[in-house]
Amino acid sequence: MLELDLTDASLADAAVDLVVVGIHAQARPAEERDVPPSAPGRPTPGAAAVLAALGVDAAEELAALGATGALGSCVRLATRGALPARAVLLVGLGPVDGVTRERLRRVGGVIAGAAARDVTLATDLATLPIVVLGDAGADVTPGTADPAETVRALAEGLTLGAYRFDAYRTRPRPVQLERATLHLASADLEPARAALSLARAGARAALTVRDLVNTPPQDKRPPVLAERVSALLEGTGVTVTVLDEGALAAGGYGGILAVGQGSSAPPRLVELDWSPPDAVAHVAIVGKGITFDTGGISLKPSEAMETMKMDMAGAATAAAVVRAAAELALPVRVTGVLCLAENMPSGTATRVSDVLTTRSGRTVEVMNTDAEGRLVLADGIAHAAERGASAIVDVATLTGAVVVALGDEIAALIGDDDVLAEALLASAARADEPLWRLPLAKDLYADKLEGMHADLRNVTGRPAGTIMAALFLHRFVPPGVAWAHLDIAGVAWSAEAGPLRTKGGTGAPARTLLDWLVATAER
Ligand code: BES
Ligand code: MN
Ligand code: ZN
Repeated sequence: MLELDLTDASLADAAVDLVVVGIHAQARPAEERDVPPSAPGRPTPGAAAVLAALGVDAAEELAALGATGALGSCVRLATRGALPARAVLLVGLGPVDGVTRERLRRVGGVIAGAAARDVTLATDLATLPIVVLGDAGADVTPGTADPAETVRALAEGLTLGAYRFDAYRTRPRPVQLERATLHLASADLEPARAALSLARAGARAALTVRDLVNTPPQDKRPPVLAERVSALLEGTGVTVTVLDEGALAAGGYGGILAVGQGSSAPPRLVELDWSPPDAVAHVAIVGKGITFDTGGISLKPSEAMETMKMDMAGAATAAAVVRAAAELALPVRVTGVLCLAENMPSGTATRVSDVLTTRSGRTVEVMNTDAEGRLVLADGIAHAAERGASAIVDVATLTGAVVVALGDEIAALIGDDDVLAEALLASAARADEPLWRLPLAKDLYADKLEGMHADLRNVTGRPAGTIMAALFLHRFVPPGVAWAHLDIAGVAWSAEAGPLRTKGGTGAPARTLLDWLVATAER
């Protein structure tokens, strides 16, 4: 992972490969805003100083270089010995009044992309005043620089943008960006340090999730993934307990066992416990960990399987976030519950209309073996509640329906605890991982879950697929426990590369959940 540090030294003196400064676009009348700017941009004060040192000052020169300040645009200049750095990058920040947290994070990603052949860089962009956009994206008022906000956004952007997954390539990249130094005013160094630790921990969690999601499914079958997660938590102070197929059978974890029984690699439940002596609360994160989802006997069409190695993103998120909590020594007890199984069709697989008995004692008629996530989570949620958590958040690539409803940039939040829901929405906003609440609609739809010959059935038909899955899970949450469900089927995977992501696992919503733990610790 990219190394990040802070300094109050002068940017012009930085002995790095690349010095990065910002340039704004000129303010323009509203009717011109949908075409790219052509006028020369307005360098920030830091950029003006660097350009002066290079002898670039006239606006015509910036115009000739194509330095318009358009958001995300890049112009690279050789320093020819005028600065200790080898090169300068002028990165476009967009209109002067609109540097939001999310734009700054994206700019960080753009910089990491533009610096793919540099090893070290230094930038003063964390000194920018940023603004928080209103709901409609309007009402922009220029803010004052808040180093905690800018350092967090920029550090996350740089780290996420520098990520590559080359573990299975025979020709890895020859060089990669190794270190980024954020230059700040001396007075801002101290407040920026905590922000940097949080940014680092959050970005590391997201990148851990990406690594696990991108790993091919033959290398993360449940027993192997359980081992890998245990190794990830070694030396962090987190207690790891792995229930194997024998322990699951003895404990009556009929949901996880039924989903895993078609595979030659048996299922696992991994419990992670970060239990600091000064804990102010006890929460649990339960993750869906289907290491490959074929649909089982209710087999998916082949194209639908192409991304199904990502069906363990929830479990990966739970593991990465528990580790981050330990890394930051947060005074919150966090129990992670990873429900790991491989959903395969075979002669031993669960049949359609088989009835299983979950850990809670409730029976379920499996009317579609492709609705397997809710079966493993039923056991995971029951397990988390038994551990005494007073709030449970489950995170799962649960339904295709959420992709239809919200697309691949917005995750769904469902739950009947308004305080917990509001806290998660606030964290999602700070992490810029969009989250939208859907209704649990108990009174309207819960009846549909009644089984023909068992307590519950696991599918109800196409309407309200995401809500129906949540209603199913809700049945396994004991009264008195606050619960929220995050359906991340859309956001866990990206078909396109962008400034902050490569194709494949995105790591969302790990930063949201870490932010929520931090907020819980501060409450
Ligand atoms: N893992 C899938 C959901 C999914 C779909 C994740 C697309 C990511 C992208 C889940 O196990 C599943 O198959 N759900 C079914 C449920 C249905 C049978 C009720 C679905 O959404 O089609
Ligand atoms: Mn499925
Ligand atoms: Zn699935």
